[in-house]
This record gives sequence, structure tokens and C-alpha cells, in this order.
Amino acid sequence: MTTPEITPLHEDVTFHGPLSEERAARLIRGLQPLDGSHVIDVGCGWAEFLLRTLEAAPTATGTGVDRDATAIAHAQANAEARGLATRVSLHVTDVQQWQPEKPADVVIVNGATQVWGGDPLRHTENALVAARKLLNPGGRLLLGEGFWEREPTDEQLGAMPVPRDQYRTLAGLVDFAHEHGYRLIAAEQASLDEWDVFENGHALAWERWLRDNPDSEHAGDIRAKADRQRGWRLRGWRATMGLAYLTLQAP
Ligand SMILES: C[S@@+](CC[C@H](N)C(=O)[O-])C[C@H]1O[C@@H](n2cnc3c(N)ncnc32)[C@H](O)[C@@H]1O
Repeated sequence: MTTPEITPLHEDVTFHGPLSEERAARLIRGLQPLDGSHVIDVGCGWAEFLLRTLEAAPTATGTGVDRDATAIAHAQANAEARGLATRVSLHVTDVQQWQPEKPADVVIVNGATQVWGGDPLRHTENALVAARKLLNPGGRLLLGEGFWEREPTDEQLGAMPVPRDQYRTLAGLVDFAHEHGYRLIAAEQASLDEWDVFENGHALAWERWLRDNPDSEHAGDIRAKADRQRGWRLRGWRATMGLAYLTLQAP
């Protein structure tokens, strides 16, 4: 049974996470000045945030790494179309096998602390430690990471594949970053609208495919995927799990 072609996520959402264009622009402004800076985006997906950062900083360079070849191909095409190809290098690589060409002034880890693998309870710590190794002294980390907006009930925890102790409260997450040597420059969080826009876009390709292929031998599998994701969202994390955007100063 061959895998059916589902439209890639970048066709339906701008960023691979709950992030509005307005917030993205503000986060990038908060990273200025970026003159002559090198920016590394780890788990960059199709690198839309990195490309926008470079558009806002004409003398900056960037590196994006993701193991998803389709996402990186889309990133590369966009970089070329937007005249950024000479300033950005994009790599299809597992981060665990990757060595940077040079240290960064800014590291972005947005919705991607899992890229260093291992126990989910250690993902945040892995990212905080790994980012410091990628940064020049005095560099900054833009961390997009989950946290509990409110304590999840047992019922919610049973309905989503996220262990309670993977995330902290927002204050706990910021304290944890401070324990790892960073200082908080700015904190904001995704709104429920941003989450809904992202989750709706996330489900759209499956629903479109089911509408267009009702008799396919794959319909059961695709419906099961869409139903599982909808359950995680509506019975699990919606309005309970947040995504924090922390701008962090490294020592
Ligand atoms: C939620 S997406 C975030 C993408 C991007 N940072 C953004 O905000 O649009 C997480 C990304 O991490 C990538 N990823 C997961 N594990 C990885 C690994 N071990 N090495 C490289 N990329 C990985 C996935 O392919 C995916 O693109």
C-alpha cells in the first residue's frame, strides 16, 4: 500500500506553529540590532521565520537545519525567490548529526526542543544547553516552547501524548532558563486565536483529501490520523497548553 500524497503543511499555514504574522514581526524587531549577525534556526521547518529575520536585517546571514527534505526544499525555493539565497544556508539534516559552520549571534528554537531527542522531560533543558554551545558570548536565544497555561486535568492528560512534567508554568519556564544562565529580555505567548488558526490549518489537508478521495483504500488511515489529532487538540491541549516565545540573553 503506497502512502497517499497529502498537501504539505506549508500550503495551509504560514509558520509551523501558533504564530501570527504580527507577532512574528514583533519578535524579529525584538532581536534587532542584527547588523552583520549570524542566525541559526534549529528545526527550522520551511524556515519562514528565519527568512523574515534575514529580510529585516540585510547584512545578516543565516543557517537553517531540519530533517524534513520537503520543508527545506520549500525554504530553499523561497530563499531564491526572495533574493536571500546568498545569505542563507539550509540543510536537510538530523540535528543530532549536525555540526554548525560557525557560531551564532542569535539561535532560534521555535517549537523544536525535541530535535535533540531523548526523554521528553529533558527536551527544554537539552535545548537551553545546546543553544548556549551554538552561541557566541553575549548571543541571544529565541525559544518557542510549551508551557501549562493552566494545570491539565487527568482527563486532558489522558487525551494527549504529552507527559505532565514535560512542561512547566510560564514562570517556571523562565526560572528554568535563568537556572541555565540566561536572562529574560521578553516573554509573550501564543493566543487562542493563533492556536486555532494553526490547528485548523494543520487538519485542513487531511479533510480536503478525505473529501476528494472518499473511496480510497487509504481513507481509513487518513481519517484515523485526523480524528486522533482533533482529539489531542479539543480534549487535550486546547486552552491548556500554551506556547511561550522567550527572548533570552545568554552570558
Ligand atoms: C513544530 S515544527 C517547527 C518548525 C519551525 N521552527 C517553525 O516554527 O515553523 C518542528 C520541526 O522540527 C523538525 N525536527 C524534528 N526532529 C528533528 C531532528 N532530529 N533534526 C532536525 N529536525 C527535526 C521537524 O521536521 C519540524 O520541521
